Amino acid sequence: MTAERPNIIVTRKLPDVVEIRLRELFDAKLNLEDRPFSRDELVEAVKTASVLVPTVTDRIDRGVLSQAGPQLKLISQFGTGVDNIDLETARNRSIIVTNTPGVLTEDTADMTMALILSVPRRLTEGAMLLRSGADEWHGWSPTWMLGHRIYGKRLGIVGMGRIGQAVARRAKAFGLQIHYHNRRRVAPEIEQALEATYWDSLDQMLARMDIISVNCPHTPATYHLLSARRLALMKRSAYVVNTARGEVIDENALARMIENNELAGAGLDVFEHEPAVNPKLLKSDRVVVLPHMGSATIEGRVDMGEKVIINIKTFLDGHSPPDRVHPAMF
Ligand code: 8YV
Repeated sequence: MTAERPNIIVTRKLPDVVEIRLRELFDAKLNLEDRPFSRDELVEAVKTASVLVPTVTDRIDRGVLSQAGPQLKLISQFGTGVDNIDLETARNRSIIVTNTPGVLTEDTADMTMALILSVPRRLTEGAMLLRSGADEWHGWSPTWMLGHRIYGKRLGIVGMGRIGQAVARRAKAFGLQIHYHNRRRVAPEIEQALEATYWDSLDQMLARMDIISVNCPHTPATYHLLSARRLALMKRSAYVVNTARGEVIDENALARMIENNELAGAGLDVFEHEPAVNPKLLKSDRVVVLPHMGSATIEGRVDMGEKVIINIKTFLDGHSPPDRVHPAMF
């Protein structure tokens, strides 16, 4: 670690300005073709790099980490979610893990709000209909393509962290009533500003909401938090939006329930077995599916890269990196 230019392996192509800076500062091995690393390549990387910069698409599990060489001191994740990394094993091997919180909050909340609006108002259905041929539209009709009003409905946010709160701010401006469930109740001034109602019981909240937005991280405790049993508590007229992680919802149960009209629809940016998407979800007119685009703005990705660089630089300068992740945080 005392070498002048520590070697860093970056697993995916990052924005040009980020790569240029990484090259200026470090001996950075970049992935210019953006071909995802195989497991063998990941193992090779942890055997040789001082710092690894992975993303959500790299599974850094116990098997990979157990083969890490003693030179690997830092995993600086390009992303906020770290559910692709076995944090316990990293800690046991004295490997520090950092992430990029904060800088993708507003972009992810925008995309969440877009889905909250799109699904009840049948936005992509309408757009796709016109795309599929001019014959499909015979002019305006008073009873055609009717969706459901958003104003005045109850939004239940599961996970009231940074992103959940940013979603609540937007949703409030659209006239939605804000409800939330979180491990801990947020500060009274935040609740007041958002006019948010706290539900200690997720089950109770689910049963009363018109739209549920999932904004919590995926952890062992939140895996299938929206299980088949819990989804069945929701109103048949309710919608589910997820821009967090697919694993938080039992995707098969969700797809089956939408197919059987037990739920009104869903807006999904993330999936349980990415990049695979349940074919039932792809087929349904009442589901809007996006390919994990929540933080996909050039500004967001450059800011994420900047955070990665600051975390690495601070660590290599002998300080505690600002975005250090501890297993207990999740
Ligand atoms: C990232 C995300 O783009 O940061 C996260 O947790 O879900 C995405 O928006 C991706 O995970 C990068 O690792």
